[in-house]
Amino acid sequence: MNKPLTQHVRPDGRPLTLQEYEKAGGYAAVRKALKDMAPQAVTTLVKESNLRGRGGAGFLTGMKWSFVPMNAPKPKYLIANADEMEPGTFKDRILLENTPHQLIEGMILAAFAIQADNAYVFLRWAYKQAAKVITTAIEEAYAAGYLGKNILGTGFDLDMHLHTGVGRYMCGEETALLNSLEGKRATPRAKPPFPQISGLFGKPTIVNNVETLCCIPHIVNNGAEWFKDLSRGSDAGTKIYGVSGNVKRPGAWELPMNVTMRELVEEHAGGMRDGYRFRGALPGGASTDFLVEEHLDVKMDYTSVAAAGSRLGTGTMIVLDDQTSVVGFVKNLEHFFAQESCGFCTPCREGLPWVEKILHTIERGEGKPEDLKLLEFHTKYLGPGNTFCALAPGAMEPLQSALKYFRKDFEMLIHHKISA
Ligand code: NAI
Repeated sequence: MNKPLTQHVRPDGRPLTLQEYEKAGGYAAVRKALKDMAPQAVTTLVKESNLRGRGGAGFLTGMKWSFVPMNAPKPKYLIANADEMEPGTFKDRILLENTPHQLIEGMILAAFAIQADNAYVFLRWAYKQAAKVITTAIEEAYAAGYLGKNILGTGFDLDMHLHTGVGRYMCGEETALLNSLEGKRATPRAKPPFPQISGLFGKPTIVNNVETLCCIPHIVNNGAEWFKDLSRGSDAGTKIYGVSGNVKRPGAWELPMNVTMRELVEEHAGGMRDGYRFRGALPGGASTDFLVEEHLDVKMDYTSVAAAGSRLGTGTMIVLDDQTSVVGFVKNLEHFFAQESCGFCTPCREGLPWVEKILHTIERGEGKPEDLKLLEFHTKYLGPGNTFCALAPGAMEPLQSALKYFRKDFEMLIHHKISA
């Protein structure tokens, strides 16, 4: 019973219909909460469960909800961040395409907890199949009385809308997402004020990741202790982990929080493909620091990964092997981040293309010894506190850790023009 989120995923890939979801216990949590619980009691339960945001930052979900002023006049907004664009990350897509009602149920519960009357699914533009599935599911939920006016006769009203993004990574940052939803250019806003106080159209707003919201019905049904006990360690619940790269079975699996990197790579992903050796991995999408062989027994939870010098991020790791050029690998990532910079702040807009250019020069065998110092300068100059949002600091994480763990690869290319 360690798979509350993916237990309904069908082997044929067809999404679960409303009737199938209800038959499996779906919407019981909505009945329970809306009929028998006060909104604040739902927030307290989620707080007690220690659920941390699964979008990447790991902020405590119940605490985030508790910042919404309960007596603020409506409208208030609940937004599911489904703009999954972190490289190597494909976990929310599984939930969106397979169990849409689980997300809708989680959104109704979150909206009830903060007394929001409007909810949006902000969906990645490229997720065409998910758009169809979510559209149908929202229609089904309206027809069944789970959305709209006076839900299940409880007096609680909630409207839900699907909004597809325009294919920009930046829109995953919650305040850029809000600007985009308002029809403005997707640049981030200054925080504070946080969206919980002043969000969409200046009104109290909660933005939660899809996987986070999908945990909520199970917490309401089974309790905070049950959720905590699903984990093998300090951070609560299960997590959808993923592995990509030259492993035998790339994929995603829902596992107890706290599995080790070794279990993920060797057991679930089947180990490295023949002829490839594990050199390291970005544990949670591209904007995290490399972990290397010495970290294989690190537990994949927020606390342990941070103690090892990286971040759990989205929990979907990208494996680096010995046949792949580290410089080329990092250059590809920096190319992505440079393209996706919103251009609002100068260090990010100007610095990322420069970093990409330096890496390209080194990769071509035209690098100079001083380029390493220049790259190191950028990892600080584009680091936390020097840019408006987390995009550039995130982009520096794979670079700074590559310079730490794989420096020889850079030096070999600079001095001898050969890959290490
Ligand atoms: P953040 O730490 O600034 O915020 C995370 C959440 O906690 C936000 O909802 C924010 O409102 C809330 N929060 C943080 N401090 C708060 C405070 N003092 N008071 C009230 N609320 C507070 O992180 P950010 O910039 O929102 O997200 C960065 C993360 O996003 C990275 O870890 C990265 O891994 C991840 N990411 C994920 C992507 C995906 O496709 N899933 C894409 C891009 C980035």
